[in-house]
Amino acid sequence: MTNYLIAPSILSADFARLGEEVSNVLAAGADWIHFDVMDNHYVPNLTIGPLVCEAIRSHAVKNGQSACIDVHLMVQPVDRIVPDFAKAGANMISFHPEASSHVDRTLGLIKDSGCQAGLVFNPATPLFHLDHVLDKIDLVLLMSVNPGFGGQSFIPSTLDKLREAKAKLQAYEAKSGRKIRLEVDGGVKVDNIREIAAAGADTFVAGSAIFGKPDYKAIIDKMREELEKV
Ligand code: DX5
Ligand code: ZN
Repeated sequence: MTNYLIAPSILSADFARLGEEVSNVLAAGADWIHFDVMDNHYVPNLTIGPLVCEAIRSHAVKNGQSACIDVHLMVQPVDRIVPDFAKAGANMISFHPEASSHVDRTLGLIKDSGCQAGLVFNPATPLFHLDHVLDKIDLVLLMSVNPGFGGQSFIPSTLDKLREAKAKLQAYEAKSGRKIRLEVDGGVKVDNIREIAAAGADTFVAGSAIFGKPDYKAIIDKMREELEKV
């Protein structure tokens, strides 16, 4: 049985009540908090940084335990900001290979700062960037929209790419005994989560699908019902 994880993106939350939004969505059944960092350089939008990560840290608690803050860096350069997020309480830090001049070095930096590391693939970015660094990766994140904004539509070719990524990760697991999570980000909704999971994803970012609705628990419960059918 796959342990599916739901990671609401706070990009679509009410920023004036962010701590409460984080606690509420975890109480409603979410697993991780997805934290989108945009710099108006690597992507054409500007969002939140380490100060906000630190501010929500004490609210990111589930059943009395600290919940994973899943930081998605859409910034360039990457390395300068990594230790700041580690100090601010991030658990997972993911970045885009195009945004780093030395992907292996950045992965090492994330691990050395005590966090788990992820690599993020834009819709047009090929998966070969994984080939020599799997030992340093805990998460592969496939973008199913172009990064920069919430509320976009899921790009259907992501399903084939998920199958390709899943095959690589399964082959690696068979060889190494280590499981790497496969996360998908962009346009994930109740009505497509099942086919996305069937294509190989085990971790689902959803922003507007959850924070756009009044009852977070109802949406997360529906997503889990869909996942049970996979
Ligand atoms: C897009 C961000 C996503 C975004 C997802 O650049 O990385 O995490 O918030 O939002 P939805 O689920 O609304 O597509
Ligand atoms: Zn994201």
